[in-house]
Amino acid sequence: MKRKILVTSALPYANGSIHLGHLVEYIQTDIWVRFQKMQGHECHYVCADDTHGTPIMLRAQAEGITPEALIERVWHEHKADFDGFHVEFDNYYSTNSDENRELAQNIYRSLRDQAKLITTKTIEQYYDPEKEMFLPDRFIKGECPKCHALDQYGDSCEVCGATYAPTDLINPVSAVSGATPVRKESEHYFFTLGACTDFLKEWTNAGHLQPEAANKMQEWIGGGLQNWDISRDAPYFGFEIPDAPGKYFYVWLDAPVGYMASFKNLCNSKQAPSTIAPSPLRGEGWGEGKSPPDFDAFWNAEKAAQEGTELYHFIGKDILYFHALFWPAMLEFSGHRTPTGVFAHGFLTVNGQKMSKSRGTFITAASYRKYLNPEQLRYYFAAKLNSSIEDIDLSLEDFTARVNSDLIGKFVNIASRSAGFITKRFDGKLGGMGDQTLAQQLQGAAKAIAAQYEAREYGKALRDIMRLTDLANQYVDENKPWELAKQEGMESRLHEACSVSLNLFRLLTLYLKPVLPKLAADVEAFFNIAPLTWQDAQTLLPVGHAINPYQHLMTRIDPKQVEAMTEENKATLAPAAEHSPARHAEKQTHEIQPIAETISIDDFMKIDLRIAKIVNAEHVEGADKLLQLTLDIGEGKTRNVFAGIKSAYAPEKLIGRHTVMVANLAPRKMKFGLSEGMVLAASGDGGLYILSPDEGAKPGMRVK
Ligand code: MSP
Ligand code: ZN
Repeated sequence: MKRKILVTSALPYANGSIHLGHLVEYIQTDIWVRFQKMQGHECHYVCADDTHGTPIMLRAQAEGITPEALIERVWHEHKADFDGFHVEFDNYYSTNSDENRELAQNIYRSLRDQAKLITTKTIEQYYDPEKEMFLPDRFIKGECPKCHALDQYGDSCEVCGATYAPTDLINPVSAVSGATPVRKESEHYFFTLGACTDFLKEWTNAGHLQPEAANKMQEWIGGGLQNWDISRDAPYFGFEIPDAPGKYFYVWLDAPVGYMASFKNLCNSKQAPSTIAPSPLRGEGWGEGKSPPDFDAFWNAEKAAQEGTELYHFIGKDILYFHALFWPAMLEFSGHRTPTGVFAHGFLTVNGQKMSKSRGTFITAASYRKYLNPEQLRYYFAAKLNSSIEDIDLSLEDFTARVNSDLIGKFVNIASRSAGFITKRFDGKLGGMGDQTLAQQLQGAAKAIAAQYEAREYGKALRDIMRLTDLANQYVDENKPWELAKQEGMESRLHEACSVSLNLFRLLTLYLKPVLPKLAADVEAFFNIAPLTWQDAQTLLPVGHAINPYQHLMTRIDPKQVEAMTEENKATLAPAAEHSPARHAEKQTHEIQPIAETISIDDFMKIDLRIAKIVNAEHVEGADKLLQLTLDIGEGKTRNVFAGIKSAYAPEKLIGRHTVMVANLAPRKMKFGLSEGMVLAASGDGGLYILSPDEGAKPGMRVK
């Protein structure tokens, strides 16, 4: 039966670059969509940039451009990254579109008028009197009311983990202007989620969520659902709320509607996918026999039920609340269908730790593309992915070893050891296969592998495929075409051996195609065949089939490339983009402190700054913030310095690095020993970064 499936990935914010963490999701979804398309189902994959909200408005202001100009530029950056990783949307749109405005406003109207689920209430919030705007929690900083750590955000303390209201902060300041915020009242619009409790209890328990997610939602529902504040006051970059001048939809109201809007735009387009930009970049027409999908068949509650269409959202675990509670409730009570499934995945760690700027593991999609092959990351992520919400780790060493062993050593090797003989000795034509047992064994695996892709158990699918790859390699090893080629009278055995191994290679390529679409296309070109579908696993290439000369398919990963990539990421990324736990509240902006009082050159020259080599770095027993550094500044002896950089650096990562120290600072007796100087570091936005002079600077050189 041909299924009708609509698939989405979460809409990335339009104020940051795509990084490898995001790619876990887009690659996971793309593999699933490609698999469904190979099955012959009607499957549409839509996404868009999430363009509204305060952080985007302020970021545009900081850059001196309009928000529209900012989101247009970022759209192109994101699109290039997705293209580069072969993430093939049927439509990649923007939430700042007419379709989205209309859909969001209509949903709001039916929630208000038919379902009576909108109320208003006057609330008091911090207001920046200089900027003349209400401040989202993330844009207020102050002293933690619990542990008194300074410079904490308005919603939670990163030092002690406490959560609180911004009005609880001691000495609050606006992170936007530095002004002291004042409390101000304003009327807000609320979606009465509490009134949807019965529906949500049932829906979250009806098999639409992964078991872990369902449990979590039940817990939240059990704790009582708060009404959801869906309005923000001007100035705000977003959509106006109907009949409420000066009030805008909170970005999370119109963001999921962006899924519908992107699809609507696809349905209304005169041309086929793959790309529909805010400034259109469309491809060819829909083409013979193809017509755009019907919007209502996928979104109208009745029609969707009649036609049996399916809707799936792939998301990260951090945005489950929005997709498993708010969104189904919004849909249900506005006459729309609800999702068939919400599939949450875990977070990406790199080398076992949270992605980090200072370690060079906060890797952007663009920098990865500069150094490494995107399909190799797709393969590694797929090997790690399953249907659970567990975090997944990218160990760069394991990545290198695994890709080189599986893809180069095993998979590509099958073709590269057989193809040349067909071209040179048999006029490019395949021969008979003799015994077909092995080929049949590979063909027989199609169903089980399909079931694993369908269930998002990609790791298991790849393990099975690699077991079959091992069998194919074993066949080549046993038959040794390179030796047969040297022997007299072995023509037909050589022809058969190469034909068998190439047929096996074709089947393996088919199974890997959702993960490695570009490589599969190259193999299809080599075999001179139409794009492989899942059904093709049931056939083999016939005797006499002409193939093209073999061309190199994939290069192994050189660890030097991996190193160069992490070095680049260490060097170039600004601290402001570091992932922070409460980023959905609102994203942070990078604010600089006021410049200090002017000094003379003589004042400056009093400070003796030197290049120092960190010869050792260790934890200090009993100190939370300090590392003990042993520094060499070419004096013939080393210096001992205690530096408050433990939060940012693992000591082993510092050893051997050069930095800058104040060499003539009066020694200071500390609880842990004598500190003979100070190292320089940049700090702010919760990050800390020691200075790293260029390699050419030698220990002891003066810095001025
Ligand atoms: N704009 C919202 C989503 C709105 S959907 C209606 C958003 N954007 S995001 O850019 O922060 O994240 C986009 C997706 O990438 C989310 O599903 C998020 O969970 C995922 N990831 C972001 N960082 C990630 C990791 N480090 N690891 C895995 N997924 C990550 O959220
Ligand atoms: Zn605290």
